[in-house]
Amino acid sequence: MDHIELRDKVGLVLGVANERSIAWAIAQCLDRAGARVALTYQNERVRPHVERLAAELRDPLVALCDVTADGEIEALFARIGREWERLDFLVHSIAFAPAAELGGEFLRTSRAGFHATLDVSAYSLIPLARGAVPFMGAGGGAVIAITFQASQRVFPGYNVMGTAKAALEQIIRQLAYELGSHAIRVCGLSAGPLRTLAARGIPGFPGMAKSHAERAPLKRSITHDEVARAALFLVSDLASGITGEVLHVDAGYHIMGV
Ligand SMILES: NC(=O)c1ccc[n+]([C@@H]2O[C@H](COP(=O)([O-])OP(=O)(O)OC[C@H]3O[C@@H](n4cnc5c(N)ncnc54)[C@H](O)[C@@H]3O)[C@@H](O)[C@H]2O)c1
Repeated sequence: MDHIELRDKVGLVLGVANERSIAWAIAQCLDRAGARVALTYQNERVRPHVERLAAELRDPLVALCDVTADGEIEALFARIGREWERLDFLVHSIAFAPAAELGGEFLRTSRAGFHATLDVSAYSLIPLARGAVPFMGAGGGAVIAITFQASQRVFPGYNVMGTAKAALEQIIRQLAYELGSHAIRVCGLSAGPLRTLAARGIPGFPGMAKSHAERAPLKRSITHDEVARAALFLVSDLASGITGEVLHVDAGYHIMGV
């Protein structure tokens, strides 16, 4: 039991691809706390996996949303409007970079690869927040995006995804400012390395995860559930005074100099 109640809250979690997705750990945690959770799937390929997982939630809503398609984002919120009429939280756990942009020389980043990475991994938070605002009523709401410390420090090979995370964190702060008057809080969760589908695409990930665990103050890696419980706190009313913040769930790794 996580001891935080989200009873009567409803929200969207975007970014479940399979049972190892950070978004899935978050969705389960919010569901256990009593929230009603909607999941989205990127395309027909992942749909069966997401539908199978969603069946484990108490009362799920499952919807298509490729964040590069404005029409799909609009359709998603039209459906939220029809079926729920309100939204208390939105969790963005989405990133993508073409394989050619990861692992090689950053100097060779292509224009198309840059655009694709920034579009999916950073820009998408803006139209998603825009879609959510009308459904977050007088009580406000919470928007959370999952980020990584490559926004601030160099992780060789992470390349343009680091650029995207820097942009994502700036978007978090800009939205936090603009949506503050609507009582909508916008925060980032900066996770340490976790073995997921997206992580598999990063060359050298196992070595990075190992050195992270050795050097972090807590001398270990983090778990999916630790990220999920931090998300639970941030979407809950216990975090009512927190916005524009990027909270690290990384066993303390980010404080280290060497
Ligand atoms: N795994 C890690 O070590 C780690 C660490 C820090 C931050 N993160 C971040 O966590 C988030 C989730 O990644 P994950 O590690 O759970 O991997 P994952 O592969 O399970 O999740 C990535 C998700 O992005 C979705 N996605 C990609 N392109 C999309 C599009 N065009 N439209 C809609 N959805 C799209 C995929 O369908 C998938 O569900 C990402 O933002 C990632 O950068 C991961």
